[in-house]
Amino acid sequence: MKRILVTGGGAGIGLAIARRFVADGAQVLTCDVDQAALDRACRETPGLIGVPCDVADPAQIDALFATLAEALGGLDVLVNNVGIGGPTLPADKLPSAEWQRVLDINLTATFEVTRRAIPLLKATAGTIIVMSSAAGRFGYPNRLPYAVTKWGLVGLTKTLAMELGAHDISVNAILPGAVGGERFDRVIAGRAQLSGRSVEEEVREGLAAQSLKRIVPPEHIADLALFLTTPAGRSISGQILPIDGDQQHG
Ligand SMILES: NC(=O)c1ccc[n+]([C@@H]2O[C@H](COP(=O)([O-])OP(=O)(O)OC[C@H]3O[C@@H](n4cnc5c(N)ncnc54)[C@H](O)[C@@H]3O)[C@@H](O)[C@H]2O)c1
Repeated sequence: MKRILVTGGGAGIGLAIARRFVADGAQVLTCDVDQAALDRACRETPGLIGVPCDVADPAQIDALFATLAEALGGLDVLVNNVGIGGPTLPADKLPSAEWQRVLDINLTATFEVTRRAIPLLKATAGTIIVMSSAAGRFGYPNRLPYAVTKWGLVGLTKTLAMELGAHDISVNAILPGAVGGERFDRVIAGRAQLSGRSVEEEVREGLAAQSLKRIVPPEHIADLALFLTTPAGRSISGQILPIDGDQQHG
């Protein structure tokens, strides 16, 4: 039975991924800083193991891996999903603390989780999946730290794929575009507040950059993540995999 760690699986894309792996018969452990979301996710997904953890705190990541060792006894797949959007502000109005917080959670925490997972994944010739974003392919005005971290995660993916390939560990980044859910609604509301346009106008504007005029369902991201862990997907490594209806610009 495959053993999976999904970070930030209390809601959104992480929860869709956790559910997909549970449905596939895997043992899935997820962590989240939001206890209520975690409780709800576990209640609604029988078999899912939820562990409270703020990945911005290395001591809590240590505790997470101690729990993981007890509960799963090893690891086949790491899905680095946690990511925060940060504020929607122009660079010259962005407080340094907000910049640092986005870097800490999106980039440094991914490193801290991954480096603890690597010895376990070496033992199983496992898979690492990193959640970047279309913002990791394009510039993203007024979301500077977010775009910077999502580009940074592409560098992390490319480099780790090279470093870990000899251990038969595959490392890939998934780059979602506009994915449906509460977070998408928040992002659109933030843009509307800044631009003065309506939410409907912002959605239309967002989809104008895509060839396929659709918001990506989180379940499609989950299916892609699962595919990367199947025998058919195991020759794919070091890739950035956009799943965004063919987005043309940020
Ligand atoms: N939704 C989109 O349109 C979209 C598009 C591109 C990329 N992404 C990326 O996909 C990932 C998931 O996004 P989402 O839309 O599902 O987000 P979300 O906010 O709905 O869910 C993220 C989860 O992570 C948890 N979390 C946040 N900070 C944490 C921390 N410090 N420690 C532990 N858990 C923490 C949250 O509590 C939440 O449950 C992110 O990396 C995001 O950047 C999302």
